[in-house]
Amino acid sequence: MKALVLAGGRGTRLRPITHTRAKQLVPVANKPVLFFGLESIAAAGIQEVGIIVSDPREMLQPDHRTGELVTVLVNSQAEIRAAVGDGSRFGLKVTYIQQEAPLGLAHAVKIAEDFMAGDSFVMYLGDNLIKDGITHFVREFDAEKPDAQILLAKVARPWEFGVAELEGERVVRLEEKPKAPKSDLALVGVYLFTSSIFDAVRAIQPSPRGELEITDAIQYMISTKKNVRSHVIHGWWKDTGRVEDLLEANRIVLADLATRIDGTVDSATVIEGAVQIGAGAVVERSHLRGPLVIGANAVVKDSYVGPFTALADGVQLSECEIEHSIVLDNSQIHDIGRRIESSLIGRDVVVTSTEVRPAAHRLMLGDSSRVELS
Ligand code: DAU
Repeated sequence: MKALVLAGGRGTRLRPITHTRAKQLVPVANKPVLFFGLESIAAAGIQEVGIIVSDPREMLQPDHRTGELVTVLVNSQAEIRAAVGDGSRFGLKVTYIQQEAPLGLAHAVKIAEDFMAGDSFVMYLGDNLIKDGITHFVREFDAEKPDAQILLAKVARPWEFGVAELEGERVVRLEEKPKAPKSDLALVGVYLFTSSIFDAVRAIQPSPRGELEITDAIQYMISTKKNVRSHVIHGWWKDTGRVEDLLEANRIVLADLATRIDGTVDSATVIEGAVQIGAGAVVERSHLRGPLVIGANAVVKDSYVGPFTALADGVQLSECEIEHSIVLDNSQIHDIGRRIESSLIGRDVVVTSTEVRPAAHRLMLGDSSRVELS
């Protein structure tokens, strides 16, 4: 059994963060989403993993200092290769498979045929997070030996997913992002396939959005009387494609946090609940109410950091209040009068107040940024 992990694609719903970074590397509780998937693949006893990565792309972006628009090469593939390497630290042997463009999940399967070399495999979407892992599903697939196995979960917004229509326990129809969903059972981004999936991906045509849909390929297997099992999961699962989902994932993962303090905390700081503070971090005259995580070399002074907050490495906070938020590497937040909450703040961002007149909000925001002021 092998694994195919999808880490290509565009990440449009997480812009502007994903203008410059692979969405699968956006961290939840200070760990890239993709790493949760790789760890659960390793825990299921799988060693050989193919990771789908996309070509670099060009983007126009404002220059950090001058604000002038410049062309930058965004290479999320290089970032993923740098973060995961050969996979040995996860106990995996990773092979990178290059997809020339995000032509669809079934296209990703198609280009992985040589790598699979006839083996069955679990396909794992790199932005999905399943809290209880996949070991149970892999065992079930091994024992029952169907042609394919899909996981389903009840969701509130089924039109944003692939949706299954069941008769009893049998899947009769699958539809990708239907306008009028026939059920609230979404396809979870973890699929188990035998090599019969390759006939299916060859047989289907691109969808109206121009992608080869894995949902259509599985539908083809159903129509050609292959044995497609489904399993409704009740545990916690998230597709972290939207900010709200990412924050919820952060909340769920942090809920199980154990305290560990490697940094320095002064005696004027109050700590409540579970807190992790990375090496080299400094916390002074602050109030930390966990669960929360503060990365290595971060500096927190005269601030309140509330529950479900993840501050990445090198973040600097002073005289501010923040909770239920994710702040990425080396960003700075200083002297903000109102509490910041439910926010996702990118890397190297500076948020500060100023005495400069006229009193006004002065913003330099990347494309597709979202700001709510009150
Ligand atoms: O999360 C579950 C949903 O994932 C399913 O319910 C849907 O049926 C399925 O189509 C998929 O929908 P999304 O719209 O969420 O897929 P997305 O485009 O976000 O791609 C999922 C992952 O695969 C993501 O990590 C990017 C990667 N990808 C995507 C495409 C289209 C690739 O590596 N190559 C691609 O060509």
